[in-house]
Amino acid sequence: MKLFAALALLLVSTLCAAAPETLMTHSRVRFMAANCAYCHGPDGKSRGSIPSLAGMDKNHFVSRMKAFRDGTRPNTIMTSHASGYTDAEFAALGDWFATHK
Ligand code: HEC
Repeated sequence: MKLFAALALLLVSTLCAAAPETLMTHSRVRFMAANCAYCHGPDGKSRGSIPSLAGMDKNHFVSRMKAFRDGTRPNTIMTSHASGYTDAEFAALGDWFATHK
């Protein structure tokens, strides 16, 4: 059983290593989106005062993320979050949240 788990892990890590950096797999986007759940709620559905991301227009999402990243919309929390992502990742996240209503 342990051996099987080790093999499975090896396979997964090999597959991940083989994926080009720009390839936006479903699980990769879901993993990125999970980083936002703590504040924006599961699947971007916020239950508090922080805005929901679920169902957000993709263009609005991407322009907000770029504004956080380049500092035109300063926010301590979101600027540090946004600075870790590329434009392609913003677009993929935008698609993800736009389809999660
Ligand atoms: C530690 C809490 C926290 C985490 C984690 C977090 N955010 Fe935020 N986010 C906020 C707060 C607070 C605001 C409101 C700030 C503002 O509007 O200036 C915000 C605002 C936003 C907005 C702007 C919404 C609007 O309509 O103006 C977007 C888009 C956004 N976050 C995306 C994300 C994404 C994508 C992630 C994950 C990669 C993420 N956030 C992770 C706290 C968080």
